[in-house]
Amino acid sequence: MTIISKDLHIAVNILNHEGVVAIPTETVYGLAGNIYSKKAIDKIFEIKQRPYFNPLIVHIKSLAQLDELAKEIPEKAMELAKTYWPGSLTLVLKKQSTVPDIVTGGLDSVAIRMPNHATALALLEEINFPLAAPSANPFGCISPTSALHVESYFKNKIPLVLDGGKCKNGIESTIIGFENNDPILYRLGSIIIEDIEKLIGKIKIKIKRDNNPDAPGMLLKHYAPHTPAYLAKDVLKLIKIFSGKKVGLLLFKEKNIHADIKYHEILSKKGDFKEAASKLYAAMHRLDKLNLDLIVAEKFPDIGLGKVINDRLERACYNNH
Ligand code: TXA
Ligand code: MG
Repeated sequence: MTIISKDLHIAVNILNHEGVVAIPTETVYGLAGNIYSKKAIDKIFEIKQRPYFNPLIVHIKSLAQLDELAKEIPEKAMELAKTYWPGSLTLVLKKQSTVPDIVTGGLDSVAIRMPNHATALALLEEINFPLAAPSANPFGCISPTSALHVESYFKNKIPLVLDGGKCKNGIESTIIGFENNDPILYRLGSIIIEDIEKLIGKIKIKIKRDNNPDAPGMLLKHYAPHTPAYLAKDVLKLIKIFSGKKVGLLLFKEKNIHADIKYHEILSKKGDFKEAASKLYAAMHRLDKLNLDLIVAEKFPDIGLGKVINDRLERACYNNH
């Protein structure tokens, strides 16, 4: 049985005994285990049905813990860590040999972040190891932003979802790595690249958009509902093509829509990117449960968080353009 609880001590007990628990973060819920326990890490991959080549993010509680995991940390990485941690930025750094290969998919680098969520930080304070935690969804599916989303994915497969409420940001962390000390963007995320560039200058973008297995995590189809989904600038024009079908609309802001569109989600009535990002996955989960023939999503303006939301929508709609 899976229980949903706010009780930290149950989580601590499970983690200390090499188990896994779902934990809240400010981005999305994670499926967490002790990085030094092979048993726990194996369980994470098995429960998620995640391929072993796809490495995990390690969650830490302090900058002191960073040195235990990473070496040769570039100056710009330190600057980013000091500015954005705790927060939704993941740094990919050269790993210490003590970080198990199974966590990093055999790479010589490790992805690290300090989550900005009181429950996650309190939990990390109570244990004496960092937590590996990928998003708590089956591989390729929509990420969870509430305890109930996790429970509906992994009922009976995990003992506990530590309840920390709805995730405030609702979109995964931004991932930055380094090549010869130059910053490289691996994944668009909650912290927008425009802000990061103000701090450390131009960043090279290396977001892989192919299905090559050595492009960890950035597979083309990802964050996807089971219902076929389509992305369009002009959603009203597109749904005309699908007349007679049971269509659900995923809209950025308030819009005059036809009365016979029964199912629609408005992500932010006033057109606010942050609000839309925080509600995106929950709206996708709801639409996906309605047995629709298809979901039609509205493309966002391609700047700031709008660009990040488009990245997730494009992957959710891949194959269905
Ligand atoms: O917001 C987040 O980052 C959430 C919360 C739970 O912290 N976690 C998350 O984890 O999104 P996951 O496993 O769903 O995505 C981690 C991404 C994957 O695309 C993975 O390939 C990439 O991080 N990654 C991990 N280690 C890496 C490394 N050493 N080099 C390059 N990419 C790496
Ligand atoms: Mg994920």
